[in-house]
Amino acid sequence: PKHFAIVPAAGSGARMASDRPKQYLPLLGQPMIRHALATLCAAPEIDKVFVILSVGDAEWARYDWRDLEPKLVPLFCGGPTRADTVLAGLRAIAGEASAADWVLVHDAARPCLAPWHIDKLVRELAHDEVGGLLGVQVADTLKRADEHRHVAATVPRDSLWQAQTPQMFRYIMLRRALEGARNVTDEASAIEAAGLRPRLIEGDATNLKVTYPLDLHLAEWILNNREG
Ligand code: C5P
Repeated sequence: PKHFAIVPAAGSGARMASDRPKQYLPLLGQPMIRHALATLCAAPEIDKVFVILSVGDAEWARYDWRDLEPKLVPLFCGGPTRADTVLAGLRAIAGEASAADWVLVHDAARPCLAPWHIDKLVRELAHDEVGGLLGVQVADTLKRADEHRHVAATVPRDSLWQAQTPQMFRYIMLRRALEGARNVTDEASAIEAAGLRPRLIEGDATNLKVTYPLDLHLAEWILNNREG
């Protein structure tokens, strides 16, 4: 089977308090999104990388992407939610993808994706029926709050993981799952809602999601201190 990457990048980044969508914020002299796209394009396992932009994206054309083409293909068909964006991308590549091909969905907002993250995910899931996702075990003690912000419960953390991306599923399984479950914040939830059990593949904390301004500084530190 082939491996296609889909990178949803049609969000507005409202929590970043910035004038442009967060995927385009500068990180080491490049728009943030370029880091993950370059890593995905360089991965020998991946056949093609589709980046799903909003219909009215005004930033993409300002940068030069020729060094990542033709493996990198921009599609201007993003939707109002992340799940809508991913589903629009899956529909757009229907002519190219076969049912059993793998799709790796990766957040534009996770710029520190490393080659070994992709290698490990692809290798460990290669013979899996369903697929799975990168994650890390939760380190903090977790509290459930009541409506007054008093602690209502302490949640046992030993079986809890933070979901990351890429999340890797078969094309047809992912498409059907997303057609059936639109209110999800990641692909795995849609697969779970379809009654299947994605596997957790242990990644590491360097694959952080940039949500708040501090995260951008952390990402810069991680990229600057990475070997190779
Ligand atoms: O906002 P959040 O950090 O959860 O977004 C995760 C990813 O989903 C980002 O890469 C963002 O650009 C993308 N997204 C999207 N379409 C939306 C909302 C978010 O592609 N409508």
